[in-house]
Amino acid sequence: MPADILVGTQWGDEGKGKLIDVLTRDVDMVVRFQGGSNAGHTIEIGSEKYVLHLVPSGIFRPGVKCVIGNGVVVDPLGLMTEMQELARRGLDISVVELSDRAHLIFEYHKRADAMRELSAGNRKIGTTRRGIGPAYSDKANRVGIRAGELTSPETLKRRFTEQAQRYNKLFAEAGMAELDIAEEWKKLEEAARYLAPHVTDTVYSINRMLRAGKKVLCEGAQGALLDVDHGTYPFVTSSSTISGGACSGAGIAPRQVGTVWGVLKAYTTRVGEGPFPTELFDEAGEKLRQAGREFGATTGRPRRCGWFDAVASAYSCMINGVDRLAITKLDVLDDQPELGICVGYEIDGEVTREFPGSVEKLKRAKPVYEWLPGWRCSTAGARAWEELPVNARKYLDRLAELTDSQIGIVSVGPRRDQTFLV
Ligand code: GDP
Ligand code: IMO
Ligand code: MG
Repeated sequence: MPADILVGTQWGDEGKGKLIDVLTRDVDMVVRFQGGSNAGHTIEIGSEKYVLHLVPSGIFRPGVKCVIGNGVVVDPLGLMTEMQELARRGLDISVVELSDRAHLIFEYHKRADAMRELSAGNRKIGTTRRGIGPAYSDKANRVGIRAGELTSPETLKRRFTEQAQRYNKLFAEAGMAELDIAEEWKKLEEAARYLAPHVTDTVYSINRMLRAGKKVLCEGAQGALLDVDHGTYPFVTSSSTISGGACSGAGIAPRQVGTVWGVLKAYTTRVGEGPFPTELFDEAGEKLRQAGREFGATTGRPRRCGWFDAVASAYSCMINGVDRLAITKLDVLDDQPELGICVGYEIDGEVTREFPGSVEKLKRAKPVYEWLPGWRCSTAGARAWEELPVNARKYLDRLAELTDSQIGIVSVGPRRDQTFLV
């Protein structure tokens, strides 16, 4: 049985959490394969709202195994708090497995993240300050500490102390407060004790599921335009956010990959710094922000909003190999009289349909728009393609055409039931 992969195709916050929750109705295992608690995946079930940062969004379906794969960077204190909170709300967290190969994030990574941001001037990225960049740097630099160490406290303490001392020197040089290592260790020791029973070799547990013919779904975090290779570098996150990242980040062979789901918001948003050609600074943008409740699930920052960017999304669908689109937040466009779709960029007097690798070029890109009429009525109650207004269908068809992809799911509200297959 192949593993399916669901990824964000824009700058994150496309509604991946909601879609994973919907798709896990008939799945046996959900696997996070990259990122860390920079992710904020929102799931609304009835009147309950949950925001997950590290626990996979399959946790709401009884019996579904929830795996935090080797490619994830894990804040042990954050994960413990998240699991305790879920348990308090009545969910079974015994299904959570944490890869022994996943790298750990400590307080010093978060401080280093903040330190870099504060000293970066106009190279500031606007990170979530969850320590993601420094943790992946330590991993690549081969000085990281992995979750496997949570099961041997002596080694963990020694390695943590060594690394914390190294970081303390950097903080002292920068005139920043040093970490109280003994204090941090106390918290860490508690988290290690709590998480140790969940630590396992997830590469084998995932592959055993696949061999047994069970359904595995990989849950991407962030989005392709934040990918460390393919995104708007350096205004990106530090991991491989595209579907290909699931192979290395979970230990799944490429030929084991089944359907790739690309989650596409019906317009565009971005949090943090970096170029965003279709960004709106007028009333239409504010309307999107309010109607879409576009405020960050992790940091609460207002999200930058703009029209749908077909150049960026087509690039994203190409590199992800998207088989099926899940188009979300169509309902947010209900009140717009007309809708802009960016079909090209004018850069230095020339029009292109290709997404440039250079962020400097992208900053100079002026969007070339095609305008479609709005539908001016509510789509929130639609439960089938035929129930959508004609103009909404035309808009969706155009998005599919421009991204050279097929629509598989349409989402018209935050709840589970506000979703239908196409
Ligand atoms: P993720 O990071 O991709 O999981 O997305 P976030 O949870 O950060 O942001 C998506 C937001 O949109 C959440 O508040 C969801 O509850 C909400 N949402 C998801 N799908 C829809 C939809 O179709 N319509 C509306 N109005 N909201 C949605
Ligand atoms: P989900 O999974 C939106 C953005 C940050 C910043 C950049 C780098 O909820 O879609 P980092 O903390 O990763 O070093 O920040 O990436 N970013 C996200 N934006 N959704 C996310 O995750 C994000 N995770 C990181 O705002 O611009
Ligand atoms: Mg999010």
